[in-house]
Amino acid sequence: MVALLENAHTDTLQKIDRLQDILTNLRFEGKVRLGKNLKEAGRVLDFFDKELMPHLNLEEKILFPFVETHLPKLESVIHLLQAEHEDFRKNLEGFRFLLQEIPKKKYESIRGEMTERLREQGLYLIYLLRNHIQEETETVYKVANRELRPSEKSTLQKEIVSLNSQRR
Ligand SMILES: [Fe+2]
Ligand SMILES: [Fe+2]
Repeated sequence: MVALLENAHTDTLQKIDRLQDILTNLRFEGKVRLGKNLKEAGRVLDFFDKELMPHLNLEEKILFPFVETHLPKLESVIHLLQAEHEDFRKNLEGFRFLLQEIPKKKYESIRGEMTERLREQGLYLIYLLRNHIQEETETVYKVANRELRPSEKSTLQKEIVSLNSQRR
């Protein structure tokens, strides 16, 4: 339906597979590679900031209100998806905080303990995102694709492309 949004889902799923590998490495590669693994986790965080956040905004500002207006039966699922966006944003800040603080800690035991918390936080983000994308695909995207009229789809498409180009 809206290729721009659906591509972001594909990219996000790839990045979270990558994040999962990095979190495993953080556990098993130990302190020698801590710096390298934190840097790689930082790259995934960059992707979340630069690609995923704009995607959430496009959904919130355009897709969700549009679908709510044209397909009112999706209202409650959209509220749920919206709440999941908030949950993701909040947990992402926890992840960011740990990622920034770990290298500043002087004691190895504290770095180790915070790294363990970072892993848990990261695994939770992965869980949230996988569930969210699956839900979205099976509800809003699927129903909109099936039930919006061609003229509505093209209006929606134009609004999304237009708002997306404003952020570049
Ligand atoms: Fe979403
Ligand atoms: Fe999405």
